[in-house]
Amino acid sequence: MNQHTILDLYRARTPRSAELAATARELLPGGVVHDARLLEPYGIYVARAQGARKWDVDHNEYVDYSGGHGALLLGHNHPAVVAAVRQQLERGTHYGACHELELRWAETIRHLMPAAERVRFTSSGTEATLLALRLARAATGRTKILRFAGHFHGWHDHVASAYGSHFDGSPTPGVLPAVAEQMVVAPPGDVAALEATLAAHDDIAAAIVEPTGASWGQVPLDPEFLFALRRATSARGIVLIFDEVISGFRCGPGGAQGVLDIRPDLTTLAKIVAGGLPGAAVVGRADLMDELDPVAAKARGREKISHHGTFNANPLSAAAGIAALEIIATTDACDRASEFAEQLRNALNDVLAIEKVDWSAYGTFSGFHIFTNPEHLPIRPHEIDAWRYDYKVLKARRPEVITALRLGMLVHGVELFSWPGGPTSMVHTDRDLQQTAEAFQATLKLMKSEGFVG
Ligand SMILES: Cc1ncc(COP(=O)(O)O)c(C=O)c1O
Repeated sequence: MNQHTILDLYRARTPRSAELAATARELLPGGVVHDARLLEPYGIYVARAQGARKWDVDHNEYVDYSGGHGALLLGHNHPAVVAAVRQQLERGTHYGACHELELRWAETIRHLMPAAERVRFTSSGTEATLLALRLARAATGRTKILRFAGHFHGWHDHVASAYGSHFDGSPTPGVLPAVAEQMVVAPPGDVAALEATLAAHDDIAAAIVEPTGASWGQVPLDPEFLFALRRATSARGIVLIFDEVISGFRCGPGGAQGVLDIRPDLTTLAKIVAGGLPGAAVVGRADLMDELDPVAAKARGREKISHHGTFNANPLSAAAGIAALEIIATTDACDRASEFAEQLRNALNDVLAIEKVDWSAYGTFSGFHIFTNPEHLPIRPHEIDAWRYDYKVLKARRPEVITALRLGMLVHGVELFSWPGGPTSMVHTDRDLQQTAEAFQATLKLMKSEGFVG
């Protein structure tokens, strides 16, 4: 047997992860707790993390591009976040009552994001998009929601189609057809299709969009489309929801809406907003958010919408979120992460040129995506970022190629997120960049020798 296949090298380095994965298969469906962590034959088990690095149970060290699924713009264990959480831990983790930190957290959000006139905390981004849709339906009295193919908004029933499959909006397993029927799916970035869709439906309560494009810019979106969407939704009384679960406090301290200078009606936030702990929020126009307020709803002759959540604004997440957002407000954290990502994209494209591989590294702000070009299109990174290719092109992949790439990078001490690519942080360094580029080149060579590339 060839001792140097990527798979052999991976297995040789990760015996303890393999053992734990075998146990996991008996305990956890698919052996994982999140679909993005599915990796054949198994993923690494992480023992600790610090800054931009993490270590697995076999003592291998990795440059980390999972970045807490995008939550860790400041890197693992930023001292200010750790101190805030530690201090709060001593004071209690759940009061089952109002507390001052939830006010400071909401104020900090509103200071960074002026469209956040009111804030309702939830525990995850999925809960935030669910609540935003409910708010929009209650406020408008309409039922349908417009969404864009490829865009991800969490895993609840209303948004379970059309981000990775079922692009026609048909229900994924377990989802009621009646729920899926209320979702209208339009192609992203196509103003004519948007106008036609809106003309065909007069019962749309809200449009929800990832403002930087599907999956943190995997399918980049022309800002002109967002301006058109803002105009079209305003004209029809449709609630515009920016899903800034990833882009919030990452594109810039005010999120994508701050950079683009577009004011959505509602915004969903998670990840960075809670400083690396579980936490999320729906924020936006007071009159819409007041559908949650019993007094305001009654004054309008309406029943308020219901919303609970045991861990909403729990004090630990609030403490972490305030600490993280204060750093983002007062430093160049967002710019640093974006500059690193740009340098990294350039370095990866240099490697692709040297190795004569027709892939592309692209992305915007603090993100990078590796397009593995299964159809061998004559593609260049700036053409992707200039919206030349649509979601069907950019989401196409050969799973075995992505798996080989991810395993090969792990073998060389780099963990990519599953896109493949990753969010970057303000603590990634030149050393991380160099190691990533070297790992990429070594992986490509191995992939060539195994026929995955070329
Ligand atoms: C844009 C977007 N919306 C919603 C979600 C769902 O957030 P959560 O995983 O916290 O439920 C995600 C998660 O990655 C996301 O990227």
